Amino acid sequence: MANTIIVGAQWGDEGKGKIVDFLTEKTDIVVRAQGGNNAGHTVIHDGKKYVLHLIPSGILWPEKNCVIGNGVVIDPVSLLEEFDKLDGQGILISPDNLVISNRAHLTLPYHRILDSFRESGLGGKKIGTTGRGIGPTYVDKSERSGLRMSDLFNQKKLVEKIESKVQKANSLLEGSDVEPLVTNQIIEELNSAASRLKPFICETTTYLHERIAEGKSLLFEGAQGTYLDIDHGTYPFVTSSNTTAGGACTGSGVSPRNIDNVTCVAKAYTTRVGSGPFITENQEFSDRMHGMGREFGATTGRKRRCGWFDAVLVRHACRLNGADQLAVTNVDGLDGIESIKICTSYELRGETITTPPADSEDWEDCTPNYEELPGWGDEITAGAESIDSLPKNANNYLDRLSELCETPVKIIGVGPDRKETLFRD
Ligand code: GDP
Ligand code: IMO
Ligand code: MG
Repeated sequence: MANTIIVGAQWGDEGKGKIVDFLTEKTDIVVRAQGGNNAGHTVIHDGKKYVLHLIPSGILWPEKNCVIGNGVVIDPVSLLEEFDKLDGQGILISPDNLVISNRAHLTLPYHRILDSFRESGLGGKKIGTTGRGIGPTYVDKSERSGLRMSDLFNQKKLVEKIESKVQKANSLLEGSDVEPLVTNQIIEELNSAASRLKPFICETTTYLHERIAEGKSLLFEGAQGTYLDIDHGTYPFVTSSNTTAGGACTGSGVSPRNIDNVTCVAKAYTTRVGSGPFITENQEFSDRMHGMGREFGATTGRKRRCGWFDAVLVRHACRLNGADQLAVTNVDGLDGIESIKICTSYELRGETITTPPADSEDWEDCTPNYEELPGWGDEITAGAESIDSLPKNANNYLDRLSELCETPVKIIGVGPDRKETLFRD
């Protein structure tokens, strides 16, 4: 298969994990290049559910290789918990099927604490982070004071840096009810994690280029989504990495010249977890989804906010990621809805706009313009085994999404299982 980047076109949780898992069959190596364990990618097959946070979804295929690239931020303790959980589910993880970049930055206990501390200080303006310490880890990376995977094996540097970080964090926390951090405790935990992780750590950029030279194909598993991107998202209600296609290259050291295909993944409607603008949010639609037991976050269990498909967002996402095709998941989530809305433009203070605004105050003043398409009544898409067996109106809906997003919908999801994925011409 061509070297492919999978990227979320909305606010995350588009079903990237499921699409990556489905495409892994025809690829050799699956790569994560940004984000951390804020990600939660659900894959279901043979009646078993797997939720991946840091480890690429490709790990579920025994004969495939996986890479955690330099752009990922890694909480070593949480990574080992993920190893153990997957091991308990019968998934074997070894340096033969997983390698981890020596340049990846470490998320440490003080990052998690600072994340929550910062959020609690923001009151009504909080971002609604996953509380995994992602923002503070990328702050240290940009500020050039972070620790990287390779530093786990340099005891002197590790102790010095952690001591100074703990001192700073504790002085910030002074007067709060948060327990002060203890350097030795952190070092002990890290040393025990380091000895388990050591065999996995290598220079993954060279590893990937050697595999490319051997003719192996790569599948990049994006985390989060376009509108959580630090540059292109609904700033400041975003995550702290570049979640868009370019992030796959900087976060792995693989050149754009080596990329053949970009596939944007979107849900057939929209969801968002955490705070921030959401033009097509709809309470009735959210209640319907939650009533059906759908749309609860894979990482934090929070209820996802839900609304209609926003073609303004997805069209722009397809452009800026250079999407060759769209994968639309959860089409079955629209089964039984009489009339389906699609947002085609926004009204902003008397002006009609067709691209997302930059400013958070502009976002607040936008209202959606909708077109409405008939649903597919009593017919269902759930579990459909072929495109031809889909209700006509479902195919019409997907055709309309292709038109509005200026990108063909070539893959669809009609259920959470690996096999409930269909190719469309
Ligand atoms: P990711 O973060 O983009 O990998 O997505 P998540 O796993 O966080 O959330 C997607 C949710 O939708 C998960 O519960 C998936 O099992 C589920 N899912 C994915 N595709 C489909 C689909 O086509 N139909 C249904 N019913 N569920 C789906
Ligand atoms: P996957 O890969 C959905 C959201 C958080 C919050 C904002 C910042 O499963 O699609 P952070 O902890 O990153 O500092 O939080 O980003 N967020 C996600 N929302 N899916 C994700 O990942 C997310 N990762 C972060 O809810 O609004
Ligand atoms: Mg998710």
